[in-house]
Amino acid sequence: MDEREPFDGLKGYLSPERAGAVLCLSETGSTNDVLRGLASEGAPAGQIVLADRQTAGRGRVGRSFLSPAGRGIYMSALFRPSEPVEDLPELTAWAAAGLCGAVEKACGVRPGIKWINDLTLGGRKICGVLTELAMKEDGGVDYVIVGAGVNVLGRREDFPPELCEIAGTIESETGKRCDRALLAAEMIRAFDALAVAFPAKRAEYLALYRQSCVTIGQRVRVLSGETVREGEALDVDGRFGLVVRLDGGAVETVTSGEVSVRGLYGYV
Ligand code: BTN
Repeated sequence: MDEREPFDGLKGYLSPERAGAVLCLSETGSTNDVLRGLASEGAPAGQIVLADRQTAGRGRVGRSFLSPAGRGIYMSALFRPSEPVEDLPELTAWAAAGLCGAVEKACGVRPGIKWINDLTLGGRKICGVLTELAMKEDGGVDYVIVGAGVNVLGRREDFPPELCEIAGTIESETGKRCDRALLAAEMIRAFDALAVAFPAKRAEYLALYRQSCVTIGQRVRVLSGETVREGEALDVDGRFGLVVRLDGGAVETVTSGEVSVRGLYGYV
């Protein structure tokens, strides 16, 4: 057992003031849940919860997010935006664009984005983003939590059988053993930049998102509830929706539901 602080060195990459709003845990259920507790007690925007291991990490659409010790970064950031609720789901895509920059700065490699919330390297998922929103009793937005899980270290074979064909780590896909503390610090800087940029710098984040989006031009399968349709992803629209030409010719913008992209291993 490594007795050092998890993310030893992180404080050295941040100002003392910024480091003061980072709660670093060896283990927790889900960093999003810990942050929700702090937010409901009044924690200010910018509060970060970071864990070395999660025992109940969550992904989108009810999936779990594998979060083993010593391998990844499991981080949640608190936002208290004043924009209307219908603008806020975009934050997931903004965060994905910002996190690509964080990985590039810390590890020297720029991931792609699989619409809408997955960062990929070599076609494999290395990071997922989960945005959760809390409302006030008067119907306004109380706060938003953006959680990101990055697979940093480890081999493809370390993933369980159901993931080992589709998931990767920065190490498995590039051979680089990235400094987790530095990457965590860059992720915090990316979240801070996002808080300042949202929503005025939409054009900038959209351009970054489109440059990195590996889904554009791919065959995709659009899953909405029980319905499955196939087509080609044409573009990302001005609100980060995926524009798809469905087989049969109709063009539709997908804003929710799930999209899987055809790759080496079928639709993932
Ligand atoms: C996904 O891939 O669908 C999203 C995964 C999000 C995982 C992160 S890890 C930090 C935060 N805490 C959680 O329980 N989930 C998010």
